Amino acid sequence: MKPVLRDVLRRRLHRHERGGDAEQADGSDVVSTLAATLPTNRGAIETVTMPRQRHPAPIGFYHLEHTAISECACAGLACFAARADRPDRWQTAATQTPVLYCLGKCYDAPSDGAHDVRPHVGEHASQTVLLGNVLRGGVRDLPTYRRGGAALEKARRMAPQALLDMVEASRLRGRGGAAFPAGTKWQAVASACAETKYVVVNADEGDPGAFSDRFLLEDDPFRLIEATAIAAHAVGARRGYIYIRKEYPDAVRVMSHALEQARVAGWLGPTLELELVVGQGAYICGEETSLLNALEGRRPEVRPRPPQISERGLFGAPTLVHNVETLCAIPWIVTHGAAAYAALGFSNSRGTKLLSLNSLFCRPGLYEVEFGISLADVVEQLGQGLRRGRLNGLMVGGPLAGIVPPTLLDTRLGYEEMQAIDCAVGHGGVIAFADDTSIPHIVAQVLRFGARESCGKCTPCHLGTPILAAMADAAANRLPVDADRFRRLIDALAATSLCGHGRGLAEFVQSVRRHYPSELQAWCD
Ligand SMILES: Cc1cc2nc3c(=O)[nH]c(=O)nc-3n(C[C@H](O)[C@H](O)[C@H](O)COP(=O)(O)O)c2cc1C
Ligand code: SF4
Repeated sequence: MKPVLRDVLRRRLHRHERGGDAEQADGSDVVSTLAATLPTNRGAIETVTMPRQRHPAPIGFYHLEHTAISECACAGLACFAARADRPDRWQTAATQTPVLYCLGKCYDAPSDGAHDVRPHVGEHASQTVLLGNVLRGGVRDLPTYRRGGAALEKARRMAPQALLDMVEASRLRGRGGAAFPAGTKWQAVASACAETKYVVVNADEGDPGAFSDRFLLEDDPFRLIEATAIAAHAVGARRGYIYIRKEYPDAVRVMSHALEQARVAGWLGPTLELELVVGQGAYICGEETSLLNALEGRRPEVRPRPPQISERGLFGAPTLVHNVETLCAIPWIVTHGAAAYAALGFSNSRGTKLLSLNSLFCRPGLYEVEFGISLADVVEQLGQGLRRGRLNGLMVGGPLAGIVPPTLLDTRLGYEEMQAIDCAVGHGGVIAFADDTSIPHIVAQVLRFGARESCGKCTPCHLGTPILAAMADAAANRLPVDADRFRRLIDALAATSLCGHGRGLAEFVQSVRRHYPSELQAWCD
């Protein structure tokens, strides 16, 4: 087929954006590394080979391309909720350029890149599926990890179809937010007819309030590597990528070191190449099609679907994309069996889930829970209540989920159960907002974040979210706004956005409006 002019121009533009690189069929020769001496947040100094972004970044898209994370303060929602605790640090975060949303240190908010403490880590499940090594303080050398189990060796002895059946029977659903059944996805990629297939690990953890992936990456890197190798064996992929956000420099360092150990030991075998790629600061790269564009060196905008990425994903090949936490359950399932996993949890939400509790709790930190726990137990038993003030609302699952009002805390944690109250499990970030933060101010902050992180691909989000953010800001500060226009913009965003970012922002406002009708009356009626 003859390429149309638009396609030719687009290709030229990409080449220009990528600094004149020749286009790569599989990206294999555009990887670069640099040796770096890094101070770690835990004290030690290490010299490691650090992966860099594999392509010159498309001009102007990423926020953190030229920014040292150690010099940034965090403007994420957990830091916003705790801004009264360190007003100076919050002031820096709110006014710095570029603004940075979420360093994954929500347990010690407001946070910055120069300081870190280890949070409390706990479990509230009949089986510890995910946090065993994190509870032990971390396992970062391969021989020690391998003494703890041999899931990869067992999986390699199994036929791929047996693995696909096992994941299906486990009833594992994606932990990145969409909760899609993992077994269905594996089956789709496995049955796609193609010479080349990819496995991609989504370690972008962009939702402000969540830090579960960060601890799995930093404390248990071999579990993720093992899980990715098992998935690659099951679906027939020979190449995989782990895409980690730049905001997690310790995770990048640990994973880089772990991959090197795995390669030297020949643990991945002759058939799998696994590569680490570091983001440059763009929340939308967590959306899987944007992530694939980022890996290909394109402007990381969302791709329209169909085609589904299980048919045409990275470089046009069938691709399995999974969140870190989803994959990290796989070695346990292989070792203990699908039935043992499916026996955990309740309703249609089986297994365990990681929850990240913010600094407003008396005992903030990272918890592994079984689905079915009530939100009241999350607040009272795990978090041990609020450190100060009265609970105004609980944001579970990130800024695109709703805010659970205190009257609904008897809701049990489960995908459908949260949906029934117009909220979501999402990525499992749990942010308590005390009564020093009003609901209108939370909505304004979420819309500000949303406008900033829009990829610009579709008009209702690209043009609508900045207007909505400005209106919400005005309304929160008791200035008059055109309520009818606000409502119409929200309805358009909900109905016509290309991806879950715009749609999620609209649904967030609609959910808050239902749960807190009097708080948003002036600007939504
Ligand atoms: C705006 C937006 C942001 C997202 N950010 C993330 C993210 O940071 N990490 C993640 O794993 N999934 C994220 N997702 C979900 C991914 O698109 C995708 O569903 C997920 O990586 C699939 O893995 P899973 O099946 O294991 O959940 C995001 C989705 C949207 C719409
Ligand atoms: S909804 Fe927003 S983030 Fe999603 S495609 Fe449209 S512009 Fe991009």
